[in-house]
Amino acid sequence: MTMPDLAMHILDIVENSTRAGARNVSLGIREDSTANSVTITIVDDGKGMTEDELKCALDPFYTTKKERSKVGLGLPMLRETAEQAGGSLVVTSAPGKGTKVCVRMVLDHIDRPPFGDINETLQIVIATNPGVIFDIAYTVDGETENFSTRDDSQGNGGVPHNAA
Ligand SMILES: Nc1ncnc2c1ncn2[C@@H]1O[C@H](COP(=O)(O)OP(=O)(O)OP(=O)(O)O)[C@@H](O)[C@H]1O
Ligand SMILES: [Mg+2]
Repeated sequence: MTMPDLAMHILDIVENSTRAGARNVSLGIREDSTANSVTITIVDDGKGMTEDELKCALDPFYTTKKERSKVGLGLPMLRETAEQAGGSLVVTSAPGKGTKVCVRMVLDHIDRPPFGDINETLQIVIATNPGVIFDIAYTVDGETENFSTRDDSQGNGGVPHNAA
C-alpha cells in the first residue's frame, strides 16, 4: 500500500465525525512556515465518546464498525504518522457533545506525508454528506481562506439546501 497522504487521513477523520452523527463539522488546516508546522483540527458535534471509548478508539485493534474496512486508516495510524513527523495527535471528546481531533506535524519533516489533493477530498466529503454543515478554514502563513456549506448562496436565509 502506498503511504496515505494528509487528504486521505482527513477523509478518514471526517468520516468518523459523520458516522458519529455530527450535524456540524469544522475543519481547520494551518500551515506555518515560520513555526515549521502543520496543524489539522477537526471538531464535530457528533455523539462523542466516554473516556473508556476514547481509550479504545486510540487502540489500533479497536473498532465499532461491524466490518473493519481495509481502506480505513483510523486514529491510531494518524497518531503514529504524526509522531513520526515530529508531532502529535490529541483527541478530546465528551459524550453527547462531540469530539475534537488535533494533529500537529513538523512541516518540513522528511516523514511528513504530502498534503495530497485536499480540495478534491473536501469536495467528496461535502457531496457525500449533504446533511452536514462543514466549516473549513485553510490558513497558510496567516492568510486564511474560509469556506462554509452554511453560506447563503441560495438566498434561503442560510438554511442548508437539504434542511427538512
Ligand atoms: N469523531 C468521533 N466521534 C465519535 N466516535 C468516534 C469518533 N472518531 C472515532 N470514534 C470511535 O473510535 C473508533 C475508532 O475510530 P478509527 O477511525 O480509528 O477506526 P474506525 O473508524 O472504526 O475504522 P476505520 O479503520 O475504517 O477508520 C470508531 O469506530 C468510533 O467508535
Ligand atoms: Mg475511522
